[in-house]
Amino acid sequence: MKIFIDTANLDMIKEVNSWGILDGVTTNPSLIAKEGVDTPTRVKEIAKIVDGPISAEAMSLDAEGMIAEGRKLAAIYPNINVKLPMCIETLKATKVLSSEGIDVNVTLIFSAQQALLAAKAGARYVSPFVGRLDDIGLHGCDLVGDIMQIFMNYDFDTEVIAASIRGPAHVIEVAEMGCDIATIPYNVLKMMVSHPKTDEGIQKFIADYSKVNKN
Ligand code: G3P
Repeated sequence: MKIFIDTANLDMIKEVNSWGILDGVTTNPSLIAKEGVDTPTRVKEIAKIVDGPISAEAMSLDAEGMIAEGRKLAAIYPNINVKLPMCIETLKATKVLSSEGIDVNVTLIFSAQQALLAAKAGARYVSPFVGRLDDIGLHGCDLVGDIMQIFMNYDFDTEVIAASIRGPAHVIEVAEMGCDIATIPYNVLKMMVSHPKTDEGIQKFIADYSKVNKN
């Protein structure tokens, strides 16, 4: 499974990139706003750091605007793809942008039928929001499984990005399903590294080593 980080914070991106496990980055308007910079500036900075797909969200609400904005975002750096929120205008824009070789990540996916339509329009990625479905009393990971089954049935090339990940358990559940990508917040990535028994084991090895080694 490919691991993306879901943030627009450069320090977090640089740190996780240095771990050697990072395959890409997703941003959204809320994450970029937190950093107090504009979208083109920040996504260019990110794209220079990470050798993998970087999602940058277009804000237009009509297909024509999305296409124009998408072309501009994709031209910023070769590894930038255009994130568009699921709606009819997005389907139209996805068809055009994908036919021009511009990758589109259709986001805010909350049902399998939305994912099916996005894939048919030529989306390179769909992003089902796992945590936000959990928030309304559903089991968000089930949606990831449903979408993957449909894409497998028809050999769609569209990759599934499990988004709105809230904890390590989400990551493991979608990984067990064989999900293509999980986009994970920094705090969850940090949690995935640690285990109290690992820390305890390291301390014991250090203590035992120092009993018989001088340096
Ligand atoms: O990638 C989508 C993500 O940014 C949304 O996460 O936690 O705001 O539901 P969240």
